[in-house]
Amino acid sequence: MRFPENFVQEVVERTDIEELIGKYVTLKRTGSNLVGRCPFHSEKTPSFSVSPAKRMFFCFGCHAGGSAITFVQKMENLDFPDAVEFLANRAGLPLPKESESNLQNQGVSRKRVLEMNLEAAKFFRACLFDKDLGKEGMKYFQGDRKMSLATIKHFGLGYAPDSFNLLTDHMHRLGYKDEELIAACLCGKSQKTGRAYDYFRNRVMFPIIDPSGNIVAFGGRVMDDSKPKYLNSSDTPAFKKSKHLFALNFAKNCCAEKMILCEGYMDVIALHAAGFEYAVATLGTAITPDHARVFSKYTQKVIISYDADEAGQNAANKAMRILGEVGMEVRVLKLSSAKDPDEYIQKFGADRFRQALEQSRTGFDHKADRILAKYDLSVGAEKIKASNDLCTLIAEYWSSVEREVYLAQVSKILELPVEVLKNSVEHIRSKQSKEYAAKQSREAQATLKNFGDRINPEAVKDPRAAAAEESVLGLMLLREEYRSAVASGEIPLAASDFVTDFHRRIFESVLKMHQSELGFRFELLGADFSPDEMGRIEKMEVSRQELSENGPAVFRSAVSVLQEASKKKSLENSDLNTRLAYLREKKAKLHKGKVDQK
Ligand code: GTP
Ligand code: MN
Repeated sequence: MRFPENFVQEVVERTDIEELIGKYVTLKRTGSNLVGRCPFHSEKTPSFSVSPAKRMFFCFGCHAGGSAITFVQKMENLDFPDAVEFLANRAGLPLPKESESNLQNQGVSRKRVLEMNLEAAKFFRACLFDKDLGKEGMKYFQGDRKMSLATIKHFGLGYAPDSFNLLTDHMHRLGYKDEELIAACLCGKSQKTGRAYDYFRNRVMFPIIDPSGNIVAFGGRVMDDSKPKYLNSSDTPAFKKSKHLFALNFAKNCCAEKMILCEGYMDVIALHAAGFEYAVATLGTAITPDHARVFSKYTQKVIISYDADEAGQNAANKAMRILGEVGMEVRVLKLSSAKDPDEYIQKFGADRFRQALEQSRTGFDHKADRILAKYDLSVGAEKIKASNDLCTLIAEYWSSVEREVYLAQVSKILELPVEVLKNSVEHIRSKQSKEYAAKQSREAQATLKNFGDRINPEAVKDPRAAAAEESVLGLMLLREEYRSAVASGEIPLAASDFVTDFHRRIFESVLKMHQSELGFRFELLGADFSPDEMGRIEKMEVSRQELSENGPAVFRSAVSVLQEASKKKSLENSDLNTRLAYLREKKAKLHKGKVDQK
């Protein structure tokens, strides 16, 4: 599906990129640009910049970049047409008629999935509240899990009946087709008949709602010990598992300065019911950097309250690191005498949980305790091991103040002088940074050798030509005069002069657009290039912009490097006589040069 280009253009012009990105990233003004912490990679110091004048964004750290459309594509995980639609809706622009119907025929849009999910949620709820159909589900929630009716309603819980077609038939009656239901992961596709069937059967259902109130997915739990215990929606055009947090829609309004992160839906529901409405959980996956970035937009402090077992505690360690990397203040709550927060609340009540919460410990204390529990400090050899492990732990902290504080703490526990421990920590740090540097350079070399450049894999074959291509394209993106010079033939440069496919495609798109009625518009490139490719394209422009010399001489010399390279390449594929003629010509030139010098 393609929207008309002038419509895309209008959408971009009607989008205030500063306001759009400001919804996701805290931006500060510096001169004519705005800067903030990049939402696409973890960083502590801001390298993400937005130019309202150019209607572009670019990250100097991870090289993500492009227009408002590219931003929405990456942030909301949408393809180009859906991102255009997203922004059009935001700007209150009606979609052009023809493309609207096209949109529904080809691929299933995010909007459509959300509509289906809403209908399905209503269906599951109606089933749960049905006296016959929902009896078992209701008994499970109220009887086994001790949930109140208010809680069940608050979370919009439901029940998927033990049937292969009740939901499918219901959705067909509402006008949804098999392919759409399968794309939304509400239905599976029968291998035999190719028809759709109910994906969730005989399970209690948990709708997953995003912070804007859309139902993006479902989790379904069995009511006995059968497997799998939980079945979750796979990723769909409206849902990316590694980004969503269960109950964030409630927690974000709770205006607590902190949030609790647990492992399970049931933990979250029990905590909310007990008054801790700032609890959230990941959806059956470990926490990812994507989660952490979403999370850090809503709160700065998080208390991890994972299951008490070994697996839960290991997961807590990992979560600490991931959340710490986006600059969040992390504490850990380890519960005893209960396997998870849900059970703890049922056993001891909300007040005891609140006390435990107040005693939650910093990440360091928690990790140090786990180390100390392994060793008997009265045995010399074990004390040395404990000291090594603790020093390695302290060495991980970037801030020297933090290291000082923990050193003092450990020195007391181990009854060893601070200076001795400090030497050991610094020794570990210098060893690690050397190892790290070596590893980085090994990795960089290996990637270059084996895979080269992911976006432009052909660049390794002729790095010099690829660099010249980047200069030529960067300058053409930057200045109208170069586009015109090439289009008019004033500077002889053709698509066939390009050595790498990726750059050739850019050249062709830029030129085609330059010659079209609307003229060149950077954001329209997004229709032909992926968001990652867009970042690379913008990098070419930004890199040129940062150089002081971008005049015609620079352009001409980059073009001639390119032409030389393409001539060499075409010779490699030509017959012997042509190659010999070329070599003779080159030798004659060289000879002439020497004679001239004399
Ligand atoms: P209860 O056992 O009902 O108390 O559930 P729980 O929420 O405490 O679950 P548990 O601690 O066993 O697991 C934590 C989370 O992991 C769950 O909420 C699910 O999101 C996820 N999970 C658990 N089992 C499965 C499974 O079999 N498949 C998938 N995809 N996710 C699971
Ligand atoms: Mn549980």
